[in-house]
Amino acid sequence: MAEELDTRTRGRTARGRLRALDAYLCQFEAGLLTRDDGPWARAVFVDVGFGEHPWTTLESATAFRALSPELSIVGVELEAERAVAAARDHADARTHFREGGFALPLSPDEPARLVRAMNLLRQGPPERIPEAHRAMSRHLLPGGLLVEGSSDTDGAVLVAHLLRRTPDAGTPAREGLLFHTDFSRGFAPLLLRDWLPRDLRRRVRPGEPIHAFFQAWEAAWKAARAEGHTQPPDAFAESVLRLARMTQGVSTDAWLLTRGCLRWSPPGGTPA
Ligand SMILES: C[S@@+](CC[C@H](N)C(=O)[O-])C[C@H]1O[C@@H](n2cnc3c(N)ncnc32)[C@H](O)[C@@H]1O
Repeated sequence: MAEELDTRTRGRTARGRLRALDAYLCQFEAGLLTRDDGPWARAVFVDVGFGEHPWTTLESATAFRALSPELSIVGVELEAERAVAAARDHADARTHFREGGFALPLSPDEPARLVRAMNLLRQGPPERIPEAHRAMSRHLLPGGLLVEGSSDTDGAVLVAHLLRRTPDAGTPAREGLLFHTDFSRGFAPLLLRDWLPRDLRRRVRPGEPIHAFFQAWEAAWKAARAEGHTQPPDAFAESVLRLARMTQGVSTDAWLLTRGCLRWSPPGGTPA
């Protein structure tokens, strides 16, 4: 049962924490955010676990509505008082705040196009994370996206799963991982390893694909620095270009490289 997976956590959040993720989604998922054929006309963006203040939900609303002005948004919180306070202070005809958990409090005529769950799967048993992913993707339309991951307190370092709802419901496809840093903490691949989503963090050990990925990135970064790419943004971009030559599925898209983003979409999906 999805309800058993919901565990109470602190509500710490910060303005701007998920801004880089909003920018990524506007750049690479504009089609998903703007689609309005058939059921997509009613499809909402859901922000699960917005925290003690709905700042990140409202910031995403502003970013996404620059592309899709009519977009409806649902902020979901396990803590009833947070949901009530957000609804009292910020709700309008297209902006809703509701109490709920991973099962998502959506009505049958409210399909989801995008579900985001950042910084809340930190407790509870890691082996139950696939169940949480399944529960949160149940309302997605086929092709819809679930973004689940972690960041530091101000969003300077962020890593998120990109999970795509396939035509048959069930476990969403593990399409890729998005890594981001704004360089305010400098840059080394290990900085990002510390913010891996919960299910991958414990897998960074020899023999695991995520371990091999970080070994290769670390080697690429050291080689880049040895060749004079020492400033963090430059070292990052050069390390990603080198990594892409050794590791399948690493994007070398210029938009990503210049914004401290690495997207890794391994051919067989993100390792489980
Ligand atoms: C650390 S805050 C994160 C806030 C925001 N998403 C961010 O990234 O800044 C986590 C929030 O998620 C809520 N939460 C935890 N588990 C949840 C669940 N299963 N469903 C809905 N909300 C949940 C907690 O009550 C808390 O307010």
